[in-house]
Amino acid sequence: MIDSKLPDIGISIFAVMSKMANDSRAINLSQGFPDFNCSDELIELFHRYQKEGFNQYAPYPGVMVLRENISKKTQMLYGKYYNPETEITVTAGATQALYTAITILIKKNDEAILLEPAYDSYAPAVIASGGRPISVPLDFPNYNINWNKVKDAISSKTKLIIINSPHNPTGSVISRTDIKVLEELLRDKDIFVISDEVYEHIVFDGQKHISLCTSEELSKKSFIISSFGKTFHATGWKVGYCVAPESLMYEFRKLHQFMLFSVNTPAQYAYAEYLNNPENYLYLNSFYQKKRDLFLNELKNSNFIFTPAEGTYFQLLDYSRITQITDMEFSEYLTKKVGVAVIPISPFMKTSKHQIIRTCFAKKDDVLLQAAEKLKDVREIR
Ligand SMILES: Cc1ncc(COP(=O)(O)O)c(C=O)c1O
Repeated sequence: MIDSKLPDIGISIFAVMSKMANDSRAINLSQGFPDFNCSDELIELFHRYQKEGFNQYAPYPGVMVLRENISKKTQMLYGKYYNPETEITVTAGATQALYTAITILIKKNDEAILLEPAYDSYAPAVIASGGRPISVPLDFPNYNINWNKVKDAISSKTKLIIINSPHNPTGSVISRTDIKVLEELLRDKDIFVISDEVYEHIVFDGQKHISLCTSEELSKKSFIISSFGKTFHATGWKVGYCVAPESLMYEFRKLHQFMLFSVNTPAQYAYAEYLNNPENYLYLNSFYQKKRDLFLNELKNSNFIFTPAEGTYFQLLDYSRITQITDMEFSEYLTKKVGVAVIPISPFMKTSKHQIIRTCFAKKDDVLLQAAEKLKDVREIR
């Protein structure tokens, strides 16, 4: 028997709900990926680079032209320069970047502050490194960061705080004030930040994404992580990246090279070329806002309560007017009896006091309408 490093961790809720969705032939609004294809142009670029012979190992930090284009994009959007030679690494999705950054920071008994509900890959990485995740709940119902609670959670063992904006699963985004408070809170402390910004291009209602790199002070202690999977409708390609100051990136790369050495070569070249046209990602805000509005417009006379997501392609629905059963039970009910698969949010947090589920609206319009039609009819359950 293995003495498990992760005794309390089971199979991810995404795998559980996706299987249940398939078995029940339910409309799948559970796992966070689009049901439409990535662009033909991107596929053709991938193919072209394969045919031209770009099929061997890439340099371990990523192909240079992609790192250069990530640097240009970051500078253009957020006004911060990262040196492609030393401060940018291409990773196998954001998941690997998160795992690598957490692993190099966390040693035995170190504490990492997680704002809950938190994306489910953070805590296992902290625990596998011998650290302790310290949960700080976001305020209900708007899911803003409660900085007093964060302050109270900081101890002499705190090594890391993970920020995620736009936030999965709640769809909330951070403000300039949050940045200022975090700057003050971490000033003169030996605490690092991982900023998970995979939904950086999906922000609604005229708001702008606030990257942590816009703060000179925070950027010095932050690993900022993003994912082309989310931006280019290609979650299965598993390509993302991390930017950080040279001294942090130096440590990151030490582990990265032995975790996987390098990322899929033709995909990197394809993304590098595709990034040349900012229109390929700047349209996403309005693209997903239309989907959010279409979905919510159908649900406005339903029994669900909601505040429109400010970013991401997720929408939380409060079902407390329908039933008081747990979110796991309700998700199972919706999947098996109503025909719409969703995600309970309790796996994203230690204690879940509310009746809330997460839906994903990265779906074709007719699928969203069909799902909303079914959800609208969900009345009281005893
Ligand atoms: C907040 C957040 N971080 C990281 C990831 C993982 O991204 P990737 O698929 O690029 O590994 C996801 C995917 O759902 C996510 O929602």
